[in-house]
Amino acid sequence: MKIQVGVFFGGRSVEHEVSIISAMQVCAALDREKYTPVPVYITKQGLFYTGPSYGDIAAYRDIPALLAAGSGVTLTPDGAGRAVLSRWPARRLGGNEIAVLDAALPVVHGTNAEDGTLQGYLEMLGLPYAGPDVLSSAVCMDKAVSKSLLATAGIPVLPGCTWTDTAWGARPDALMDELALRFGFPVVVKPVNLGSSVGVTRAADRAALRAAADLAFQFAPKVLIEPAVVRLREINCAVLGDAGAARASACEEPLGAGGILSYGDKYLSGGEADKGMGGAARRVPADLAPALRDHIQALGVHTFQTLGCQGVARVDFLLDCDKNQVYVNEINTIPGSLAFYLWEPVGLSFGALLDEMLSLAFKRHRQRAALSFTYESNILAGAGLGAKGGAKR
Ligand SMILES: Nc1ncnc2c1ncn2[C@@H]1O[C@H](COP(=O)(O)OP(=O)(O)O)[C@@H](O)[C@H]1O
Ligand SMILES: [Mg+2]
Repeated sequence: MKIQVGVFFGGRSVEHEVSIISAMQVCAALDREKYTPVPVYITKQGLFYTGPSYGDIAAYRDIPALLAAGSGVTLTPDGAGRAVLSRWPARRLGGNEIAVLDAALPVVHGTNAEDGTLQGYLEMLGLPYAGPDVLSSAVCMDKAVSKSLLATAGIPVLPGCTWTDTAWGARPDALMDELALRFGFPVVVKPVNLGSSVGVTRAADRAALRAAADLAFQFAPKVLIEPAVVRLREINCAVLGDAGAARASACEEPLGAGGILSYGDKYLSGGEADKGMGGAARRVPADLAPALRDHIQALGVHTFQTLGCQGVARVDFLLDCDKNQVYVNEINTIPGSLAFYLWEPVGLSFGALLDEMLSLAFKRHRQRAALSFTYESNILAGAGLGAKGGAKR
């Protein structure tokens, strides 16, 4: 019997469409000798669907038709590490069970999914899943929280300043005065928890900073501001493994039109949207002196393990060419296309990458199952509801 893998994608995120492309690539690459992919599409409203055509990218050109041809689904734990995928709303007549999942492969990007929410749901189901756990997902999704953890671990990051929407609403001028004193201009303003450059702007003066902050607050209640790197090169490298062992992929250099790489640069400049991240303009391997490449790869592994990542993540770096300094910019715990194109140059096929991610998922599940989550006590034997001061002390 092949291993039934629920491939989860879509979701309430600005990166919904990119996630569909990544997931279709995953469904195509999974080794059919060993695995059967079961696509589970999460709509922009957060509903779960599946159907016979859900593994075909062409079907997503007409979402209403796709939903009409498929069925709503729900998941139920079986108590033994699997989850039953059933039709929902249930049919009165006929069976409702669609598949019994042995594992989940989250291929979601961005908010309400990659940030630990889907992982929490899978934990509740007791289903093994690939990629980082709840805490690591949540930490990596927040650029301010991950920055402070990396700084504490001695990993080079740019200084940053965090504003809340409440403070911005109450005293914007005081915040901007303080920031101008600390960093000067130009700065880069970003929502703390988005991706794909949505809401990210470079501001060269106070008026631009005000507009940039107003824009960023449309996407998140917390905004991060950093000094802008002026002579910038961007280098990314993926890391695969877990706390025990992790290794780095080839490095890539995304090639933008200069300035902030936009959503369009990242996904559309290759002209073939259906290639997803694989279609964007980039140089692989990046043109780097061997010592600098080794340094970046080592920092990538250190970052991955410091933030408790698992499976495959992509660590993005900013190179300040004036100061000759490398900074970790951000960690994508479920990178576009799962960064398969960075592993192929080092001899790991997409299918083998997915196989390794799923092996890690089963390993973590076994390790967690070996922990004790029960504590024998007879607390209920004499319990009533009248205890003074509540039940918990
Ligand atoms: N401090 C910075 N200095 C200069 N450019 C930056 C800086 N931070 C981000 N950028 C530019 O903005 C882009 C998006 O920022 P990033 O932090 O990667 O957010 P996202 O999660 O949206 O990808 C980067 O790819 C880079 O081009
Ligand atoms: Mg980025």
